[in-house]
Amino acid sequence: MTFLGIDLGTSGLRALLVDGSGTPIGSTERAYDVSHPRAGWSEQDPADWIEALEQAISEMRETYPSFAELRGVGVAGHMHGATLLDENGDVLRPCILWNDTRSHAEAAILDKTDGVRELSGNIVFPGFTAPKLEWVRHNEPEIFARTSKVLLPAAYLNYYLTGDYVADMSDSAGTSWLDVGKRQWSNTLLEAGHMGPDQMPRLVEGTQPAGELRPELARSWGLNNPVIIAGGAGDNAAAACGIGALNEGQSFVSLGTSGVLLAARDGYRPAPETAVHTFCHAVPGRWYQMGVMLSATDSLNWLARLVGKSPSDLTRALGEQVSPPGQLRFLPYLSGERTPHNDAEIRGSFTGLSTGTTKEDMTRAVLEGVAFGLRDSLEALAATDAQMNEVIAIGGGSASKYWLQLISTVFGLPLRVPVSGEFGAALGAARLGMIAATGASPADVISPPDIATEVQPDVQQADVYEEAYQKFRASFAMIRAAQ
Ligand code: XUL
Repeated sequence: MTFLGIDLGTSGLRALLVDGSGTPIGSTERAYDVSHPRAGWSEQDPADWIEALEQAISEMRETYPSFAELRGVGVAGHMHGATLLDENGDVLRPCILWNDTRSHAEAAILDKTDGVRELSGNIVFPGFTAPKLEWVRHNEPEIFARTSKVLLPAAYLNYYLTGDYVADMSDSAGTSWLDVGKRQWSNTLLEAGHMGPDQMPRLVEGTQPAGELRPELARSWGLNNPVIIAGGAGDNAAAACGIGALNEGQSFVSLGTSGVLLAARDGYRPAPETAVHTFCHAVPGRWYQMGVMLSATDSLNWLARLVGKSPSDLTRALGEQVSPPGQLRFLPYLSGERTPHNDAEIRGSFTGLSTGTTKEDMTRAVLEGVAFGLRDSLEALAATDAQMNEVIAIGGGSASKYWLQLISTVFGLPLRVPVSGEFGAALGAARLGMIAATGASPADVISPPDIATEVQPDVQQADVYEEAYQKFRASFAMIRAAQ
Protein backbone atom coordinates (compact mmCIF):
# COMPACT_ATOMS: atom_id res chain seq x y z
CA MET A 1 0.00 0.00 0.00
CA THR A 2 1.15 3.55 -0.69
CA PHE A 3 -0.27 6.97 0.21
CA LEU A 4 0.12 10.36 -1.43
CA GLY A 5 0.45 13.77 0.25
CA ILE A 6 -0.16 16.84 -1.90
CA ASP A 7 1.00 20.23 -0.66
CA LEU A 8 -0.64 22.94 -2.76
CA GLY A 9 1.75 25.76 -1.83
CA THR A 10 1.85 29.41 -2.83
CA SER A 11 4.81 29.01 -5.17
CA GLY A 12 4.23 25.44 -6.31
CA LEU A 13 2.74 22.00 -5.74
CA ARG A 14 4.67 19.23 -4.02
CA ALA A 15 3.59 15.59 -4.14
CA LEU A 16 5.05 13.00 -1.78
CA LEU A 17 4.55 9.23 -1.94
CA VAL A 18 4.94 7.24 1.29
CA ASP A 19 4.79 3.50 1.97
CA GLY A 20 2.52 1.62 4.36
CA SER A 21 4.68 2.58 7.34
CA GLY A 22 4.62 6.26 6.38
CA THR A 23 8.23 6.26 5.16
CA PRO A 24 8.83 8.54 2.16
CA ILE A 25 9.40 6.79 -1.17
CA GLY A 26 9.84 9.86 -3.36
CA SER A 27 8.54 13.31 -4.18
CA THR A 28 8.26 15.82 -6.98
CA GLU A 29 7.44 19.51 -7.36
CA ARG A 30 5.95 21.81 -9.98
CA ALA A 31 6.11 25.60 -9.75
CA TYR A 32 3.42 28.10 -10.75
CA ASP A 33 3.04 31.86 -10.51
CA VAL A 34 1.19 34.30 -8.30
CA SER A 35 -0.20 37.28 -10.19
CA HIS A 36 -0.39 40.72 -8.61
CA PRO A 37 -2.77 42.65 -10.92
CA ARG A 38 -2.62 45.62 -8.50
CA ALA A 39 -0.60 46.54 -5.41
CA GLY A 40 -1.85 44.40 -2.50
CA TRP A 41 -3.66 41.95 -4.82
CA SER A 42 -2.58 38.34 -5.11
CA GLU A 43 -4.29 35.76 -7.34
CA GLN A 44 -3.81 32.33 -8.89
CA ASP A 45 -5.57 30.43 -11.65
CA PRO A 46 -6.90 27.12 -10.21
CA ALA A 47 -6.26 25.56 -13.66
CA ASP A 48 -2.52 25.95 -12.89
CA TRP A 49 -2.96 23.84 -9.74
CA ILE A 50 -4.61 21.04 -11.72
CA GLU A 51 -1.93 21.15 -14.41
CA ALA A 52 0.79 20.99 -11.73
CA LEU A 53 -1.00 18.08 -10.04
CA GLU A 54 -1.40 16.09 -13.26
CA GLN A 55 2.25 16.67 -14.22
CA ALA A 56 3.39 15.61 -10.75
CA ILE A 57 1.26 12.45 -10.95
CA SER A 58 2.65 11.53 -14.40
CA GLU A 59 6.17 11.84 -13.07
CA MET A 60 5.34 9.80 -9.94
CA ARG A 61 3.82 7.02 -12.03
CA GLU A 62 6.89 6.81 -14.23
CA THR A 63 9.43 7.04 -11.43
CA TYR A 64 7.84 4.99 -8.63
CA PRO A 65 6.16 1.71 -9.63
CA SER A 66 4.59 1.49 -6.15
CA PHE A 67 2.37 4.45 -7.11
CA ALA A 68 0.12 1.72 -8.58
CA GLU A 69 -0.54 0.53 -5.01
CA LEU A 70 -2.02 3.89 -3.99
CA ARG A 71 -4.81 3.62 -1.38
CA GLY A 72 -5.11 7.07 0.17
CA VAL A 73 -4.49 10.74 -0.66
CA GLY A 74 -4.43 13.83 1.55
CA VAL A 75 -4.33 17.42 0.30
CA ALA A 76 -2.86 20.37 2.21
CA GLY A 77 -3.40 23.83 0.76
CA HIS A 78 -2.42 27.44 1.29
CA MET A 79 -5.22 28.74 3.47
CA HIS A 80 -8.01 31.33 3.12
CA GLY A 81 -8.10 31.50 -0.72
CA ALA A 82 -11.53 32.01 -2.32
CA THR A 83 -12.19 29.76 -5.33
CA LEU A 84 -15.63 30.68 -6.66
CA LEU A 85 -17.60 28.11 -8.64
CA ASP A 86 -20.80 28.46 -10.66
CA GLU A 87 -23.65 25.94 -10.54
CA ASN A 88 -21.80 23.64 -12.97
CA GLY A 89 -18.68 23.62 -10.79
CA ASP A 90 -16.76 25.88 -13.19
CA VAL A 91 -14.32 28.45 -11.82
CA LEU A 92 -15.73 32.00 -12.07
CA ARG A 93 -12.61 34.10 -11.49
CA PRO A 94 -8.97 33.67 -10.36
CA CYS A 95 -8.61 32.52 -6.75
CA ILE A 96 -7.97 35.45 -4.38
CA LEU A 97 -5.11 34.34 -2.10
CA TRP A 98 -4.28 34.51 1.63
CA ASN A 99 -1.82 37.41 1.19
CA ASP A 100 -4.23 39.56 -0.83
CA THR A 101 -5.27 42.59 1.23
CA ARG A 102 -7.76 44.28 -1.13
CA SER A 103 -10.68 43.51 1.21
CA HIS A 104 -9.36 45.37 4.26
CA ALA A 105 -12.37 47.73 4.42
CA GLU A 106 -14.81 44.79 4.22
CA ALA A 107 -12.77 42.91 6.87
CA ALA A 108 -12.94 45.87 9.26
CA ILE A 109 -16.75 46.01 8.93
CA LEU A 110 -17.21 42.26 9.45
CA ASP A 111 -14.77 42.35 12.35
CA LYS A 112 -16.94 44.94 14.13
CA THR A 113 -20.16 42.97 13.54
CA ASP A 114 -21.69 41.64 16.75
CA GLY A 115 -20.75 38.06 17.57
CA VAL A 116 -18.30 37.60 14.68
CA ARG A 117 -15.07 37.47 16.69
CA GLU A 118 -16.73 35.39 19.42
CA LEU A 119 -18.02 32.71 17.02
CA SER A 120 -15.10 32.60 14.62
CA GLY A 121 -12.56 32.82 17.48
CA ASN A 122 -10.44 35.26 15.48
CA ILE A 123 -10.11 38.79 14.21
CA VAL A 124 -11.51 38.98 10.67
CA PHE A 125 -8.25 39.60 8.82
CA PRO A 126 -8.37 40.99 5.25
CA GLY A 127 -6.69 37.77 4.05
CA PHE A 128 -9.50 35.58 5.38
CA THR A 129 -12.20 34.29 3.04
CA ALA A 130 -15.39 36.05 4.21
CA PRO A 131 -14.18 39.62 3.51
CA LYS A 132 -13.01 38.52 0.06
CA LEU A 133 -16.58 37.51 -0.78
CA GLU A 134 -17.82 40.84 0.52
CA TRP A 135 -15.32 42.53 -1.82
CA VAL A 136 -16.62 40.45 -4.74
CA ARG A 137 -20.21 41.35 -3.77
CA HIS A 138 -19.34 45.06 -3.93
CA ASN A 139 -17.00 45.07 -6.92
CA GLU A 140 -18.01 42.12 -9.11
CA PRO A 141 -21.75 41.76 -8.39
CA GLU A 142 -22.42 39.62 -11.48
CA ILE A 143 -19.82 37.08 -10.34
CA PHE A 144 -21.15 37.19 -6.78
CA ALA A 145 -24.66 36.47 -8.09
CA ARG A 146 -23.40 33.39 -9.98
CA THR A 147 -21.37 32.02 -7.05
CA SER A 148 -22.86 28.66 -6.22
CA LYS A 149 -19.97 27.31 -4.09
CA VAL A 150 -16.88 28.81 -2.43
CA LEU A 151 -13.99 26.41 -1.99
CA LEU A 152 -10.62 26.87 -0.31
CA PRO A 153 -7.69 25.78 -2.51
CA ALA A 154 -7.34 22.35 -0.82
CA ALA A 155 -11.11 21.81 -1.06
CA TYR A 156 -10.93 22.66 -4.76
CA LEU A 157 -8.41 19.83 -5.21
CA ASN A 158 -10.70 17.57 -3.12
CA TYR A 159 -13.45 18.48 -5.60
CA TYR A 160 -11.22 17.68 -8.57
CA LEU A 161 -10.24 14.36 -6.99
CA THR A 162 -13.66 13.21 -5.70
CA GLY A 163 -16.22 15.22 -7.68
CA ASP A 164 -17.72 16.27 -4.35
CA TYR A 165 -17.65 19.57 -2.44
CA VAL A 166 -15.86 18.68 0.83
CA ALA A 167 -13.59 20.70 3.12
CA ASP A 168 -11.83 19.92 6.37
CA MET A 169 -12.17 21.81 9.69
CA SER A 170 -8.61 23.15 9.92
CA ASP A 171 -8.80 24.98 6.61
CA SER A 172 -12.42 26.04 7.07
CA ALA A 173 -11.48 27.67 10.40
CA GLY A 174 -9.73 30.42 8.40
CA THR A 175 -12.85 31.54 6.54
CA SER A 176 -14.62 33.57 9.30
CA TRP A 177 -17.73 31.49 8.47
CA LEU A 178 -16.94 28.59 10.82
CA ASP A 179 -17.89 28.35 14.48
CA VAL A 180 -14.35 27.28 15.38
CA GLY A 181 -15.25 26.01 18.87
CA LYS A 182 -18.17 23.86 17.61
CA ARG A 183 -16.47 22.87 14.33
CA GLN A 184 -19.53 23.64 12.16
CA TRP A 185 -20.64 26.34 9.72
CA SER A 186 -22.27 29.20 11.63
CA ASN A 187 -25.49 30.61 10.18
CA THR A 188 -24.82 33.86 12.06
CA LEU A 189 -21.39 34.22 10.47
CA LEU A 190 -22.64 33.23 7.02
CA GLU A 191 -25.46 35.77 7.23
CA ALA A 192 -23.00 38.48 8.34
CA GLY A 193 -21.02 37.74 5.16
CA HIS A 194 -24.12 37.57 2.88
CA MET A 195 -23.54 33.87 2.25
CA GLY A 196 -25.74 30.80 2.70
CA PRO A 197 -25.04 27.26 3.96
CA ASP A 198 -25.75 25.84 0.47
CA GLN A 199 -22.71 27.74 -0.83
CA MET A 200 -20.44 25.92 1.62
CA PRO A 201 -18.82 22.51 1.10
CA ARG A 202 -19.69 19.59 3.38
CA LEU A 203 -17.40 19.50 6.43
CA VAL A 204 -15.31 16.54 7.58
CA GLU A 205 -12.35 16.21 9.90
CA GLY A 206 -8.95 16.17 8.18
CA THR A 207 -8.46 12.52 9.12
CA GLN A 208 -11.88 11.40 7.84
CA PRO A 209 -12.58 10.25 4.29
CA ALA A 210 -13.89 13.04 2.03
CA GLY A 211 -14.71 10.57 -0.73
CA GLU A 212 -13.15 8.23 -3.29
CA LEU A 213 -10.94 9.09 -6.23
CA ARG A 214 -13.18 9.61 -9.29
CA PRO A 215 -13.22 6.49 -11.52
CA GLU A 216 -12.08 8.54 -14.59
CA LEU A 217 -9.04 9.78 -12.67
CA ALA A 218 -8.30 6.33 -11.24
CA ARG A 219 -8.30 4.97 -14.81
CA SER A 220 -6.12 7.71 -16.21
CA TRP A 221 -3.67 7.34 -13.29
CA GLY A 222 -3.49 3.57 -13.89
CA LEU A 223 -5.01 2.57 -10.55
CA ASN A 224 -7.18 -0.50 -10.03
CA ASN A 225 -7.95 -0.33 -6.30
CA PRO A 226 -10.31 2.15 -4.64
CA VAL A 227 -8.43 5.22 -3.38
CA ILE A 228 -9.72 7.24 -0.40
CA ILE A 229 -9.29 11.02 -0.36
CA ALA A 230 -8.95 12.41 3.19
CA GLY A 231 -10.55 15.66 4.36
CA GLY A 232 -7.01 17.09 4.24
CA ALA A 233 -5.90 20.30 5.93
CA GLY A 234 -4.78 23.88 5.71
CA ASP A 235 -1.03 23.89 5.11
CA ASN A 236 -0.09 24.91 8.67
CA ALA A 237 -2.22 22.20 10.32
CA ALA A 238 -0.76 19.71 7.83
CA ALA A 239 2.78 20.83 8.66
CA ALA A 240 1.93 20.34 12.35
CA CYS A 241 0.87 16.76 11.46
CA GLY A 242 4.15 16.36 9.53
CA ILE A 243 6.21 17.15 12.64
CA GLY A 244 3.89 15.44 15.13
CA ALA A 245 2.68 18.64 16.85
CA LEU A 246 -0.64 17.61 18.38
CA ASN A 247 -0.18 18.30 22.09
CA GLU A 248 0.34 21.38 24.25
CA GLY A 249 4.01 22.41 24.22
CA GLN A 250 4.70 21.11 20.69
CA SER A 251 5.33 23.89 18.21
CA PHE A 252 7.11 24.96 15.05
CA VAL A 253 8.51 28.02 13.41
CA SER A 254 8.06 27.90 9.64
CA LEU A 255 10.12 30.03 7.27
CA GLY A 256 8.04 29.84 4.10
CA THR A 257 6.54 32.58 1.92
CA SER A 258 4.68 33.43 5.13
CA GLY A 259 6.40 33.12 8.52
CA VAL A 260 4.45 31.08 11.04
CA LEU A 261 4.94 30.31 14.70
CA LEU A 262 2.45 27.57 15.62
CA ALA A 263 1.68 26.03 18.99
CA ALA A 264 -0.59 23.01 19.44
CA ARG A 265 -3.17 23.53 22.23
CA ASP A 266 -4.87 20.93 24.39
CA GLY A 267 -8.26 22.60 23.95
CA TYR A 268 -10.05 25.53 22.32
CA ARG A 269 -8.43 28.71 23.70
CA PRO A 270 -9.52 31.57 21.46
CA ALA A 271 -7.90 34.99 21.88
CA PRO A 272 -9.85 37.10 19.37
CA GLU A 273 -8.87 40.30 21.17
CA THR A 274 -5.35 39.70 19.80
CA ALA A 275 -3.97 39.04 16.31
CA VAL A 276 -3.14 35.44 17.31
CA HIS A 277 -4.99 32.95 15.09
CA THR A 278 -6.92 30.11 16.78
CA PHE A 279 -7.92 27.34 14.38
CA CYS A 280 -9.18 23.75 14.44
CA HIS A 281 -6.43 21.18 14.05
CA ALA A 282 -6.69 18.56 11.29
CA VAL A 283 -7.34 15.93 13.99
CA PRO A 284 -10.75 15.74 15.74
CA GLY A 285 -11.10 17.48 19.11
CA ARG A 286 -7.85 19.46 18.72
CA TRP A 287 -7.01 23.10 18.05
CA TYR A 288 -3.85 25.14 17.61
CA GLN A 289 -2.77 28.77 17.76
CA MET A 290 -0.36 30.63 15.54
CA GLY A 291 1.12 33.98 14.73
CA VAL A 292 1.40 34.70 11.00
CA MET A 293 3.69 37.20 9.29
CA LEU A 294 2.91 37.74 5.64
CA SER A 295 6.41 38.11 4.17
CA ALA A 296 9.11 35.82 5.54
CA THR A 297 11.05 34.19 2.69
CA ASP A 298 9.00 36.53 0.51
CA SER A 299 11.13 39.38 1.93
CA LEU A 300 14.39 37.59 1.13
CA ASN A 301 13.12 36.58 -2.32
CA TRP A 302 12.24 40.22 -2.99
CA LEU A 303 15.79 41.37 -2.11
CA ALA A 304 17.29 38.51 -4.14
CA ARG A 305 15.29 39.56 -7.22
CA LEU A 306 16.39 43.19 -6.79
CA VAL A 307 20.10 42.40 -6.55
CA GLY A 308 20.03 39.63 -9.14
CA LYS A 309 21.15 36.79 -6.83
CA SER A 310 19.45 33.66 -5.52
CA PRO A 311 18.19 33.73 -1.91
CA SER A 312 20.63 30.96 -0.98
CA ASP A 313 23.56 32.90 -2.54
CA LEU A 314 22.61 35.83 -0.32
CA THR A 315 22.42 33.82 2.91
CA ARG A 316 25.53 31.77 2.09
CA ALA A 317 27.57 34.98 1.79
CA LEU A 318 26.89 35.66 5.50
CA GLY A 319 28.60 32.48 6.75
CA GLU A 320 27.16 30.70 9.79
CA GLN A 321 28.31 32.87 12.69
CA VAL A 322 25.69 35.51 13.55
CA SER A 323 27.10 39.07 13.51
CA PRO A 324 25.94 41.69 16.01
CA PRO A 325 22.95 43.72 14.82
CA GLY A 326 23.92 46.67 12.60
CA GLN A 327 22.47 50.15 12.14
CA LEU A 328 20.50 49.08 9.09
CA ARG A 329 16.92 48.10 9.91
CA PHE A 330 14.35 46.36 7.70
CA LEU A 331 10.63 46.28 8.46
CA PRO A 332 9.28 43.18 6.68
CA TYR A 333 5.82 44.51 5.85
CA LEU A 334 5.94 44.14 2.06
CA SER A 335 2.31 42.94 1.94
CA GLY A 336 1.10 44.51 5.22
CA GLU A 337 1.11 42.44 8.41
CA ARG A 338 -1.20 40.15 10.39
CA THR A 339 0.33 39.19 13.76
CA PRO A 340 0.58 41.28 15.84
CA HIS A 341 -0.47 44.43 13.98
CA ASN A 342 -3.44 43.49 11.76
CA ASP A 343 -2.48 46.28 9.37
CA ALA A 344 -3.10 45.69 5.67
CA GLU A 345 -1.81 49.09 4.63
CA ILE A 346 1.52 49.27 6.39
CA ARG A 347 4.48 48.72 4.05
CA GLY A 348 8.11 47.69 4.53
CA SER A 349 11.12 49.95 4.86
CA PHE A 350 14.89 50.07 5.15
CA THR A 351 16.25 52.67 7.55
CA GLY A 352 19.87 53.49 8.32
CA LEU A 353 21.15 53.11 4.73
CA SER A 354 24.53 54.73 4.06
CA THR A 355 26.94 54.98 1.14
CA GLY A 356 28.83 52.14 2.79
CA THR A 357 25.83 49.77 2.90
CA THR A 358 26.59 46.48 1.17
CA LYS A 359 24.43 43.68 -0.20
CA GLU A 360 25.48 41.59 2.81
CA ASP A 361 24.29 44.33 5.20
CA MET A 362 20.94 44.36 3.43
CA THR A 363 20.63 40.56 3.59
CA ARG A 364 21.47 40.61 7.31
CA ALA A 365 18.89 43.35 7.92
CA VAL A 366 16.20 41.39 6.04
CA LEU A 367 16.89 38.22 8.04
CA GLU A 368 16.85 40.27 11.26
CA GLY A 369 13.60 42.01 10.31
CA VAL A 370 11.90 38.64 9.75
CA ALA A 371 13.37 37.27 13.01
CA PHE A 372 12.02 40.31 14.90
CA GLY A 373 8.62 39.95 13.19
CA LEU A 374 8.51 36.33 14.38
CA ARG A 375 9.53 37.46 17.88
CA ASP A 376 6.40 39.66 17.81
CA SER A 377 4.39 36.46 17.21
CA LEU A 378 6.27 34.72 20.03
CA GLU A 379 5.28 37.52 22.42
CA ALA A 380 1.67 37.40 21.20
CA LEU A 381 1.47 33.61 21.66
CA ALA A 382 3.13 33.75 25.07
CA ALA A 383 0.42 36.21 26.16
CA THR A 384 -2.23 33.53 25.43
CA ASP A 385 -0.30 31.06 27.64
CA ALA A 386 0.59 28.80 24.70
CA GLN A 387 3.53 26.64 25.76
CA MET A 388 6.44 26.27 23.37
CA ASN A 389 8.75 23.72 24.93
CA GLU A 390 9.97 22.14 21.72
CA VAL A 391 10.17 24.47 18.73
CA ILE A 392 11.00 22.67 15.48
CA ALA A 393 12.25 24.75 12.53
CA ILE A 394 10.75 23.97 9.12
CA GLY A 395 10.23 25.63 5.72
CA GLY A 396 12.61 26.58 2.90
CA GLY A 397 14.30 29.38 4.89
CA SER A 398 15.36 26.95 7.62
CA ALA A 399 18.12 25.70 5.29
CA SER A 400 20.07 28.83 6.36
CA LYS A 401 22.03 28.08 9.54
CA TYR A 402 22.64 31.81 9.97
CA TRP A 403 18.90 32.53 9.98
CA LEU A 404 18.16 29.73 12.47
CA GLN A 405 20.92 30.85 14.83
CA LEU A 406 19.63 34.41 14.59
CA ILE A 407 16.01 33.43 15.31
CA SER A 408 17.08 31.22 18.20
CA THR A 409 19.02 34.17 19.69
CA VAL A 410 16.16 36.63 19.13
CA PHE A 411 13.69 34.14 20.69
CA GLY A 412 16.02 33.11 23.53
CA LEU A 413 14.92 29.52 22.75
CA PRO A 414 16.61 26.48 21.22
CA LEU A 415 15.36 25.45 17.78
CA ARG A 416 15.26 21.78 16.83
CA VAL A 417 16.26 20.95 13.27
CA PRO A 418 14.93 17.65 11.87
CA VAL A 419 17.27 15.31 10.00
CA SER A 420 17.09 16.22 6.35
CA GLY A 421 14.16 14.63 4.58
CA GLU A 422 10.42 14.95 4.64
CA PHE A 423 8.61 16.51 7.57
CA GLY A 424 6.50 19.35 6.16
CA ALA A 425 2.91 19.81 4.96
CA ALA A 426 3.21 17.13 2.23
CA LEU A 427 4.13 14.50 4.83
CA GLY A 428 1.31 15.69 7.11
CA ALA A 429 -1.11 15.40 4.17
CA ALA A 430 0.13 11.88 3.32
CA ARG A 431 -0.39 10.91 6.96
CA LEU A 432 -3.97 12.21 6.82
CA GLY A 433 -4.50 10.16 3.62
CA MET A 434 -3.18 7.07 5.41
CA ILE A 435 -5.39 7.58 8.48
CA ALA A 436 -8.50 8.20 6.35
CA ALA A 437 -7.84 5.12 4.20
CA THR A 438 -6.81 2.63 6.89
CA GLY A 439 -8.56 3.87 10.04
CA ALA A 440 -5.18 4.01 11.86
CA SER A 441 -5.12 6.07 15.04
CA PRO A 442 -3.82 9.66 14.55
CA ALA A 443 -1.61 9.35 17.65
CA ASP A 444 0.17 6.34 16.09
CA VAL A 445 0.77 7.96 12.70
CA ILE A 446 1.42 11.62 13.59
CA SER A 447 4.83 11.29 15.24
CA PRO A 448 7.73 13.74 15.66
CA PRO A 449 10.70 13.56 13.25
CA ASP A 450 14.23 12.54 14.23
CA ILE A 451 16.16 15.63 15.25
CA ALA A 452 19.57 16.28 13.68
CA THR A 453 20.66 19.28 15.77
CA GLU A 454 19.40 21.74 18.32
CA VAL A 455 20.45 25.31 17.55
CA GLN A 456 21.15 27.16 20.83
CA PRO A 457 20.72 30.91 21.37
CA ASP A 458 23.99 32.85 21.28
CA VAL A 459 23.88 34.07 24.89
CA GLN A 460 26.79 36.47 24.33
CA GLN A 461 24.59 38.42 21.92
CA ALA A 462 21.28 38.11 23.78
CA ASP A 463 21.41 41.67 25.16
CA VAL A 464 22.40 43.42 21.94
CA TYR A 465 19.67 41.58 20.07
CA GLU A 466 17.12 42.43 22.76
CA GLU A 467 18.05 46.10 22.34
CA ALA A 468 17.81 45.81 18.55
CA TYR A 469 14.37 44.18 18.90
CA GLN A 470 13.18 47.11 21.02
CA LYS A 471 14.46 49.50 18.31
CA PHE A 472 12.61 47.45 15.69
CA ARG A 473 9.39 47.92 17.71
CA ALA A 474 10.07 51.64 17.93
CA SER A 475 10.70 51.88 14.15
CA PHE A 476 7.38 50.13 13.55
CA ALA A 477 5.59 52.73 15.68
CA MET A 478 7.33 55.57 13.78
CA ILE A 479 6.56 54.12 10.34
CA ARG A 480 2.93 53.48 11.25
CA ALA A 481 2.58 57.06 12.45
CA ALA A 482 4.16 58.38 9.23
CA GLN A 483 2.16 56.25 6.76
C1 XUL B 1 -2.08 31.24 7.48
C2 XUL B 1 -1.70 31.84 6.18
C3 XUL B 1 -0.51 31.32 5.45
C4 XUL B 1 -0.98 30.49 4.27
C5 XUL B 1 0.11 30.20 3.26
O1 XUL B 1 -3.11 31.92 8.12
O2 XUL B 1 -2.34 32.71 5.67
O3 XUL B 1 0.38 30.64 6.28
O4 XUL B 1 -1.60 29.33 4.72
O5 XUL B 1 0.95 29.25 3.59
